[in-house]
Amino acid sequence: MKICIVGASGKLGKYLVQHALERGYEVVGVCREKSVGKLEDFQDRITILPGPTNDRELIRKAVAGCDGVLTVLVPWGVQKYASGTAQAVLDYAQPEARLIFSCGWHITRDGKDVYSKLFLWLVAAAGWIARILRLVELKDQVEACRRIFASSTKWTVVRGSDLEEGESQGLPVWSRHVGDPILRSNRTRRVDFALFMVEALANDGLIHEAPAIVGCQTESALEYAAGQQAQVDS
Ligand SMILES: NC(=O)c1ccc[n+]([C@@H]2O[C@H](COP(=O)([O-])OP(=O)(O)OC[C@H]3O[C@@H](n4cnc5c(N)ncnc54)[C@H](OP(=O)(O)O)[C@@H]3O)[C@@H](O)[C@H]2O)c1
Repeated sequence: MKICIVGASGKLGKYLVQHALERGYEVVGVCREKSVGKLEDFQDRITILPGPTNDRELIRKAVAGCDGVLTVLVPWGVQKYASGTAQAVLDYAQPEARLIFSCGWHITRDGKDVYSKLFLWLVAAAGWIARILRLVELKDQVEACRRIFASSTKWTVVRGSDLEEGESQGLPVWSRHVGDPILRSNRTRRVDFALFMVEALANDGLIHEAPAIVGCQTESALEYAAGQQAQVDS
């Protein structure tokens, strides 16, 4: 299996590379030129194409012949970075390729997610500060996902909860809507976010889904599993 990782040099991207290589996949990584050094540990085992991830020609070359594309969607700057990146992947990936995108819980597919007041306040505050500083364009990540959801490609949008570093705890669990009890703990190890994305490449059950994920060892995930077991036992 040959895959492309768009945004390979970031914290999530490096975990994606690691999981993909462990599975024996052939990996093409795209990252900004100034970040190539961050992939030093992998440089002999992957092909690196340097450049901005919204460079359409670069993405066209990177995804050629790939069975899957893992894209770290980030709303940096005020240059439509996320939507430009997503559009290039949607336009140039092979029609049958599995396309997996990362984002956060703030993205909603059907408007049925239920957010806490604190969560909504934090997203609004972060968006406002970022806009003032012209650092991040949260609305563009929303636009990127709108285009993905409207696409007929074999996409999955993985919506990460708050992330933390640490050893893998195993494959995160997921639900269709933020607000579902299983997700209450709102925490996932970054290494396991990446694991979920790499596993999704071979899971056709996740095609056209936008799973919101949470760590499988978090309190809410364990409570949910115990509740399910109790139902089976009764
Ligand atoms: N952080 C969280 O708590 C959290 C929570 C939920 C979901 N997520 C999602 O998880 C994914 C990864 O996020 P992360 O926070 O863990 O960060 P990350 O993996 O470190 O990724 C950040 C990415 O943004 C790139 N980047 C940084 N500055 C940039 C700039 N000025 N212009 C263009 N690209 C730039 C980085 O590339 P370089 O290597 O070139 O710098 C890297 O590819 C995202 O899709 C995010 O929406 C994050």
